[in-house]
Amino acid sequence: MVMNEQPYVAVANVSDVVDPGSTLVELGERLVVLIHAAGHWYALDDVCTHDGGPLSEGPIDPLLCTITCPRHGAKFDLRTGAALTLPATKPTSAHEVKVEGEKVFVRLRT
Ligand code: FES
Repeated sequence: MVMNEQPYVAVANVSDVVDPGSTLVELGERLVVLIHAAGHWYALDDVCTHDGGPLSEGPIDPLLCTITCPRHGAKFDLRTGAALTLPATKPTSAHEVKVEGEKVFVRLRT
């Protein structure tokens, strides 16, 4: 195990989040949007890197695997957090997700 690796933390039940859909979870001081789309799970910081918009309030496109910032429309890749369109140019943080039984776990990446 790598030193300083964050633990997985149970954040939701599978049945809590429709597909496609999302929910906002708190991990320590971090606000993370947990996303369920096309049978997959993703977790991103709830912060648009353009001007701090709340990604959890933006629409998800399960086919393109994106979430759109509700403020000015920047799109981010659900898998990597990469900024795909302006006005955002920097990625938001993407975190690891795993499902065990009915529980969804997130592990923060720094
Ligand atoms: S704050 Fe997200 S696009 Fe401007």
